[in-house]
Amino acid sequence: MKLWGGRFTKETNQLVHRFNSSISFDQRFYKQDIEGSIAHVTMLAEQKILTQEEKRDIITGLQGILQDLNSGCLTIDETSEDIHSFIEAVLIERIGETGKKLHTGRSRNDQVALDMKLYTRDEIIELNHLLRELLEQIHTLMKENTTTILPGFTHLQKAQPVTLAHHLGAYFEMFVRDRGRLSDIYERMNFCPLGSGALAGTTYPLNRNRSAQLLQFTGATKNSMDSVSDRDYLIELLSALSTIMMHLSRFCEELILWNSNEYRFIELDDSYSTGSSIMPQKKNPDIAELIRGKTGRVYAALVSLLTTMKGLPLAYNKDMQEDKELTFDAIDTVKGCLSLFTGMLSTLEFKKDIMEKSAKNGFTNATDAADYLVNHGIPFRDAHAIIGRLVLLCIDKGCSLEELSLSDYQNLSPVFQEDIYKAISLTSCVEKRNTLGGTGIDAITEELACNEEYLSKKNACEQFNCIGGIEE
Ligand code: ARG
Repeated sequence: MKLWGGRFTKETNQLVHRFNSSISFDQRFYKQDIEGSIAHVTMLAEQKILTQEEKRDIITGLQGILQDLNSGCLTIDETSEDIHSFIEAVLIERIGETGKKLHTGRSRNDQVALDMKLYTRDEIIELNHLLRELLEQIHTLMKENTTTILPGFTHLQKAQPVTLAHHLGAYFEMFVRDRGRLSDIYERMNFCPLGSGALAGTTYPLNRNRSAQLLQFTGATKNSMDSVSDRDYLIELLSALSTIMMHLSRFCEELILWNSNEYRFIELDDSYSTGSSIMPQKKNPDIAELIRGKTGRVYAALVSLLTTMKGLPLAYNKDMQEDKELTFDAIDTVKGCLSLFTGMLSTLEFKKDIMEKSAKNGFTNATDAADYLVNHGIPFRDAHAIIGRLVLLCIDKGCSLEELSLSDYQNLSPVFQEDIYKAISLTSCVEKRNTLGGTGIDAITEELACNEEYLSKKNACEQFNCIGGIEE
């Protein structure tokens, strides 16, 4: 059934119908469409626009459709134009004339804006939950590794020793910010467009605030033209999703490097690795690579929607139908990547001895050797030059700074004493860095306590209890 046949004298061309139709993808929010309709009808009856009996019949009809779609008794007719038309058509088929009153004071423009918001809101809660699980996993690993030492890198060159807890803590911060972004988006988008009509509002005495309340929104949107044509929240969401993917991708890149034969800092679990069809020795980090690879499609969704929106005059335009497939795909991709990543992280093994050995090679304690001289009154720039020459000597001898003899040290500066060895031991290099946010045990203990407190609190997405039915 078409919702708009009256004005037309010819059938729609089949290709046009298929090109225009969105049912293949918008059927995914049938629950939200019905949830929105139930709230709408409830409000219409309260405003005496529908009778109590009409309201009851429509709601019972809609609930039956929901049940039958959930159970699979009712299959979605793929030849319908969209999910809105399909549900309305089934309702009319099932309850007769009263069903035709459902669309009073509403347009598909505000209806689809509502459905997409309801759907997105539920998905943000899911994403937020998956991020929390990842943060909990990182937190567990941090607690276990406050004394595990590995080289920290800059320019992918060994720089200074850090603890694994500290390294992982950097990702903790990134995913905390990601959750914050989702929370902000949730709060900003949580206004209900229902009752905005096609663009200009309606002539019926709707109570839009009541609809908003029934659907657990913070309030109703303020401008009907904006309500039906605002896709900012999707752009913000796609941007936040892109950032999540960028973070996951960086983490994956490190795991791929660490899992390589050259590093061997970690061993991915067999259950999260794959083999080669030709090289029997291979155990490949495909999952990490795929997550890194899928980052591109999430970025693409963001650029795609930004481009779709950039030239659109007010108010609704059909171009906006394009928001769905790419948003759905991006959300699905990020959800999948987050749970796989958490699984991969919880099963991999850290090769602590190899990490520590690697931190010992590569002069990661050179800065501390220079600091030793500074602490004995040598200006830093001179100290830097002296240690540089000692590093050259080590390269020449094929040894590390701690393997040089005291006379090697004293040849370059008489300031060096026996305690230089303690000053440049890996543990003391790490231990001494206790500035706020540093890698030392005191600093990390403080960081862990903050993280613990963060994890014990609910954020905005969790505070809004927006999942749930409509009260009658
Ligand atoms: N499938 C449409 C969309 O996703 C629903 C809104 C249709 N509105 C209209 N005026 N044709 O945007």
